[in-house]
Amino acid sequence: MDFDVNFARSQFPQLSDEPDFVFCANAGGSHVAQQVHQVFETYNRHMRVQPYSGYSLSREAGEAMDRSRMLWAEALDISPDELTFGPSTSLNTYVLAQAIGPTLKPGDQIIVTNQDHESNRGVWLRMAAQRGIEVRHWNVEPEFGLLEGKTLKNLLTEKTRWVFFTHCSNLVGTINPVQEYAQMIRNSCEARIFVDAVSYAPHHIPSPGSLGVDGYAFSLYKVFGPHQGILYLNRETAETLEAQCHDFNTGILAKHFNPAGPLHAEVAASGGVLDYFDALHEHHYGQSCQNFREKLDDLHKLTSLHEAHLVRTVLECLTQFPDIHILGKHNAEDGDRVSTIAFRHKRRLSSEICADLQNLGIGCEYGSFYAYHLVADLGIDPEDGFVRISLVHYNSQEDLNRTVSALQQVLC
Ligand SMILES: Cc1ncc(COP(=O)(O)O)c(C=O)c1O
Repeated sequence: MDFDVNFARSQFPQLSDEPDFVFCANAGGSHVAQQVHQVFETYNRHMRVQPYSGYSLSREAGEAMDRSRMLWAEALDISPDELTFGPSTSLNTYVLAQAIGPTLKPGDQIIVTNQDHESNRGVWLRMAAQRGIEVRHWNVEPEFGLLEGKTLKNLLTEKTRWVFFTHCSNLVGTINPVQEYAQMIRNSCEARIFVDAVSYAPHHIPSPGSLGVDGYAFSLYKVFGPHQGILYLNRETAETLEAQCHDFNTGILAKHFNPAGPLHAEVAASGGVLDYFDALHEHHYGQSCQNFREKLDDLHKLTSLHEAHLVRTVLECLTQFPDIHILGKHNAEDGDRVSTIAFRHKRRLSSEICADLQNLGIGCEYGSFYAYHLVADLGIDPEDGFVRISLVHYNSQEDLNRTVSALQQVLC
């Protein structure tokens, strides 16, 4: 079955506002699906009251929020109270660091990578510095920025308490084999495993349990939804950590890692993302009584082929130019690369190349994208960094043709 990109595009009102523009900056934040706009609109127009009181409007508001929790729990195949809605992934990891810190003691070790966005790095370094914890650095190989299992293996010891890494870097684009790395960690020590999936989730949302990790986080504003972070912690891990909520909420696991009140409308609108995926599924497969977990897996089979075509075509274009340095794998044949491509010219500034592409109607970006230490450790000025073209399933063949043609013009 072919993926109907026109149907997907018809669900994003913003795409039709900009007919002469190719949106290639999805990794910074995707467009918002109409199903999400609808929930926002309904919530803000009709239910904007304090939820969870006895009167009917308030009950409806609470139900709209609970609906999101139930749908996302089904999609992730987790228990509803293993899920935290927070304002962003950076804030979720910040809170998590406050919760993990008191469980560690001097002499314990943690592992962090330099492939990660700063939100899955700086908080752990600060936590370690405050508590006398040893940090072991899982660094990328220096050419393509790949994170290798053999490096991890040498860092694991019986003192390792946590390993923090990313499912897919927001620059490198190569998908890390999370399941394999998780198994390697389990075979060596009793460390807990936390994975940042912010760059992976726009391409597929897996079940964190099937990956064998203890914590998993992503941001819905990059997954066609509202500005919300989703944080999963398995119950066993969550129960060992210090609650960060108001003290009277201690004991309600779903509230443990949310120190403030939730953003009511945003939480309600989070379910709209799954309404969008539902519509996409129904369009391709007809009505079905499958659960969201199964529907997301079906959709991944369809959209991953389309996205592989997008990334392969851009890589084929870029590899023609000997002066172009591309991060990550240079092919998309093995199903382990998302359609995020970061490159730089060996003799020209990324800022200039990006401006030239933007002048041709290509909405791309340049810089370090908060993976500051990755770029610096590769020996590149993070201010100029890389040009990033990030495409998702709603980018069409026409978008691709225009992007490739602009790249040919600018790089020749
Ligand atoms: C890979 C990755 N991790 C984490 C983050 C931080 O997410 P948030 O903006 O929700 O804090 C980003 C944001 O760009 C990201 O790309």
